Amino acid sequence: MTDTDRCKSMMLEFDGIFFDYSRQRATVDTVSKLFKLAEEAHLKQKINSMFNGEHINSTENRSVLHVALRASKDATINSDGKNVVPDVWQVLDKIKEFSDKVRNGSWVGATGKALTNVVAIGIGGSFLGPLFVHTALQTDSEASKLAGGRQLRFLANVDPVDVARNISGLDPETTLVVVVSKTFTTAETMLNARTLREWISSALGPQAVSKHMVAVSTNLKLVEKFGIDPNNAFAFWDWVGGRYSVCSAVGVLPLSLQYGFSVIEKFLAGARSIDQHFHSAPFESNIPVLLGLLSVWNVSFLGYPARAILPYTQALEKLAPHIQQVSMESNGKGVSIDGVRLPFEAGEIDFGEPGTNGQHSFYQLIHQGRVIPCDFIGIVKSQQPVYLKDEVVNNHDELMSNFFAQPDALAYGKTPEQLQSENVAPHLVPHKTFTGNRPSLSLLLPSLDAYRIGQLLAIYEHRIAVEGFVWGINSFDQWGVELGKSLASQVRKQLHASRKKGESVEGFNFSTTKLLTRYLEASADVPSEPTTQLPKI
Ligand code: F6P
Repeated sequence: MTDTDRCKSMMLEFDGIFFDYSRQRATVDTVSKLFKLAEEAHLKQKINSMFNGEHINSTENRSVLHVALRASKDATINSDGKNVVPDVWQVLDKIKEFSDKVRNGSWVGATGKALTNVVAIGIGGSFLGPLFVHTALQTDSEASKLAGGRQLRFLANVDPVDVARNISGLDPETTLVVVVSKTFTTAETMLNARTLREWISSALGPQAVSKHMVAVSTNLKLVEKFGIDPNNAFAFWDWVGGRYSVCSAVGVLPLSLQYGFSVIEKFLAGARSIDQHFHSAPFESNIPVLLGLLSVWNVSFLGYPARAILPYTQALEKLAPHIQQVSMESNGKGVSIDGVRLPFEAGEIDFGEPGTNGQHSFYQLIHQGRVIPCDFIGIVKSQQPVYLKDEVVNNHDELMSNFFAQPDALAYGKTPEQLQSENVAPHLVPHKTFTGNRPSLSLLLPSLDAYRIGQLLAIYEHRIAVEGFVWGINSFDQWGVELGKSLASQVRKQLHASRKKGESVEGFNFSTTKLLTRYLEASADVPSEPTTQLPKI
């Protein structure tokens, strides 16, 4: 940190975003070795293959083209010899038209009332990205004005408690339900969709479903089979991975209904700006590439398997939950893309909370316990400035004082000598010592509006792809989620047979049999032939 030239070489700026990685445990030489590693890993070729629509998701035989979702209208991006950009814009134009109609009251519900509330049903990638963007936009002045009186809620968990929370205070007459599912087969989403279909039709009659339910999916046949008019379905494509789908109708439809398409267009433009930078900037000045390589450095060379995502704004409170899926579902793999067991551990454990809340929670461990590389994300201009007469600093400056202080506290620590010179009692010196030399990086954004949120999203998406490219894994499949799903279906069959026909629990190990039997016995009052009952709060 005392070598100014080193620090200077570890700072860069692109399109308003300032990136400082001088607090990484890396020398200038380390960084050039990481570029060599990137070369060995054919990183440039892999990035190009992604943008060229090659089937880099080889286990699912698919291209990976979320960048096409935010391409400008005149761009050409091919998948299987076909330019996909016109299809993307056909759906975007349809979203614009539909969301305008709902927002201006020319599309109304079955009883003629305007639809001012939206419940988006979906889980995983069909939920976390849109929730992150919605939460970040809620307090942006332009977006919040345009939302004026509208509500957007997300129903993800199959827990009936989540149903209760999401319909609480809503009137089916003024509610539009958007069912979001790439496959339209996800058990949680489909049960929640059937539940809200019942909520609407029991209140307004079954014919109301066509006015109150729309869908986003790649599987338009199943959408129709479910009973949603195909004209009210918004398509996307199998070259969009679920966790990379927030820029498709998955995010764009619910967010446009809430904020208007013009705001969401700016979000797409922000992501596009980073796509172009990622595709064309030399590695030395390429933010996602540098971030990805530094993550590989921390995980694979220094042995720090976790990463804390610490935004200094409450508006980004859902960034870490979204990145958990993008990162851990992408890179939590045990074999190389060719199916060979990895001789090292790939993937990163992501977690985070907005500062300063995190400071009063898990930062203790980060300062004196384990070494966790940290991403500090700061915003120059608050979305909601507060100034109080007679305060030392304004509220945002107070928040940002922490953003600037924490990285140095981690980097420098505090020595026993410093403590002794402060006359700290000798028995407390070890407890008050901070070892320092703990890595972090800082990203400073000029503001947090739709455009900046798009940039931030794309930076993380591409960083995670870079890590996967260097580790030599397939970051775009997710076979690890399948086993649990199939075991749950075996349990579902058993619960059905036990509840309906009183069959005893069979075919499971001793522990699961015991747990299931106890569950069934203790809930014997659950009706075996129930009449429909919906939450009442
Ligand atoms: O959790 C597994 C997963 O397949 C995710 O990859 C995906 O985002 C999520 O389920 C939801 O899938 P769908 O959009 O098909 O309902």
